[in-house]
Amino acid sequence: MKFFLDTANLNELRTGAKWGIVDGVTTNPTLIAKEGKPIKEQIAAICDIIDGPISAEVVATESKAMIAEGSDLAKIHKNVVVKVPLTRDGIEACSALSKDGIRVNVTLCFSAAQALIAAKAGAYFISPFVGRLDDIGATGMDLIHQVVHIYQNYDFDTQVLAASLRGPLHVIDAALAGAHIGTLPFKVLDQLFNHPLTDKGLDQFLKDYNKVFAQK
Ligand code: G3P
Repeated sequence: MKFFLDTANLNELRTGAKWGIVDGVTTNPTLIAKEGKPIKEQIAAICDIIDGPISAEVVATESKAMIAEGSDLAKIHKNVVVKVPLTRDGIEACSALSKDGIRVNVTLCFSAAQALIAAKAGAYFISPFVGRLDDIGATGMDLIHQVVHIYQNYDFDTQVLAASLRGPLHVIDAALAGAHIGTLPFKVLDQLFNHPLTDKGLDQFLKDYNKVFAQK
C-alpha cells in the first residue's frame, strides 16, 4: 500500500521524506490554512520535498470556477493532482479536467454510490473518509471494502485513497481491505514504527554486545 502524508507542514514532510517511505502528499483547505502561506507557494514547496502525487484542493464550489482553478493548480508542477469535493459541480469539474489529462482526486466521499459516480467521471483517486464516518457511529472501514470490491468488479482505474485515518489500526485495516493508498497525518505515520518488543530487543542486543566488547 502506498503511504501519503496528509499534511501541508514542510517540517513533517522533510522528516517523512528522510524515512524514504512517503509516496505522496494530500492537502486540503484546512491543512493549507494551518500553514498560513498562499496555496501555490506551499504546494510548490511541497513538490520540492516529496516526488510523488501532491493533491491540491480547489476552494471554488461552482464547476466553471473549479475547472479554471484546477487547471491553474495543475500548472504548479507535473506532480500536482487536483482535488475536488464530491458534489454535482465537483463531478462536472472532474469529468472536464480528466478529459484535459489533469489527474483528479475526488474528496469528501462517504458512500459507495458516490465512489461509483467518481470512477465513472474519470477520477484518478477517490478519497473515502474513514474517521469521519466512525465519528458518527458508522463503520468507516466498511466503505473501503465496498469501494475496493466495486472497483474490482468493473476494473475501474480509479485508485482508492483511504483518508481520515486516525491511527495504526485504520492503516492496517485499509491495507487488509485492499486500498491502493492510505493518507496519514504525520503523527499516525510515526506511530506505525512503535513496538515495545523492538525497543526491548534492541536494548538487550546492545547490552549483551557491550558487556563483551565495550571499551574497557
Ligand atoms: O484529507 C482529509 C483528512 O485531512 C481528514 O482527516 O482527521 O480531519 O477527518 P480528519
